[in-house]
Amino acid sequence: MIRKAVLPVAGWGTRFLPATKAMPKEMFPVIDKPVVQFIVEECLHAGVDNIIFVTGRHKRPIEHHFDINSDLEKHLEQAGKDDLLKNVREISRLTNPIYIRQKEQLGLGHAVLVAEPVVGNEPFIVALGDVIIDGEENVIKRMIEIYERFGKSVIAVFEVDKEMVSKYGIVSVKHIEEDIYLVEDLVEKPKKEEAPSNLAIVGRYLLTPKIFEKLKVTPIGKGGEIQLTDAIRLLLEDEVVYAIKIESKVYDTGTPLGYLTTLVEYALKREDLRDDFLRFLEDIVSKYNQQTGKA
Ligand code: G1P
Repeated sequence: MIRKAVLPVAGWGTRFLPATKAMPKEMFPVIDKPVVQFIVEECLHAGVDNIIFVTGRHKRPIEHHFDINSDLEKHLEQAGKDDLLKNVREISRLTNPIYIRQKEQLGLGHAVLVAEPVVGNEPFIVALGDVIIDGEENVIKRMIEIYERFGKSVIAVFEVDKEMVSKYGIVSVKHIEEDIYLVEDLVEKPKKEEAPSNLAIVGRYLLTPKIFEKLKVTPIGKGGEIQLTDAIRLLLEDEVVYAIKIESKVYDTGTPLGYLTTLVEYALKREDLRDDFLRFLEDIVSKYNQQTGKA
């Protein structure tokens, strides 16, 4: 039974400064829902309801978001805004969150290690706070099924363009059956020429507690940080690790371009926005093409 998910959300969000000076990047809205809420909902739909946020000093808005705001609820109730009230209420009753501070930002691996006292000696999920996965199948749920069968760690991977491998943890794998693979090796953000494949770690992990032992001895890696990818590589010395290849759409909201494309695609999913927004896009593209002589 997997009951706990660790959401590392302490990062500076430097790619979005100065917007992230006082505002966590995980709270950026995808129209009207903050990115982190998508990830919390994904965990809850998989039956994982203990959400452990590994947080930092400028991340208070995340705590407020999942807390009850009685003043706002009262205001919406009096104003008869029932739909909004229902929505706001639901968020605060979604989960009983646990917040733990990462006092120094020493990398994703370090953030996961900070959660050890709360996770304890049980397998757990790690879900990155800026990656939205949108598909018919809940990836975390599928990872739990694989864990229930094999009793070992599982990481979700997806195919990326060869040009993009240096932005991800990359794995080499051996196929077992359907979407299940055995991990043979992992490397964090390799150069294109050195990448063992184009299978990238997507930001969803199911890890056995042995990872903590490994994180404690993981040397500083890429970017001067303690990398989770490197710790999983060490875990391979003692345990097999499975990979599940996902076909779902992955939205990496952690970069300006990724965030922008996420917004556009989610706007096009919304019935109340789609037609007007599409007209706007068509119009702006055709004006742009005329101006630049591309039409
Ligand atoms: C992290 C991980 C990387 C993974 C990526 C997925 O990198 O270190 O292995 O592929 O998330 O988004 P980051 O994007 O935080 O630099």
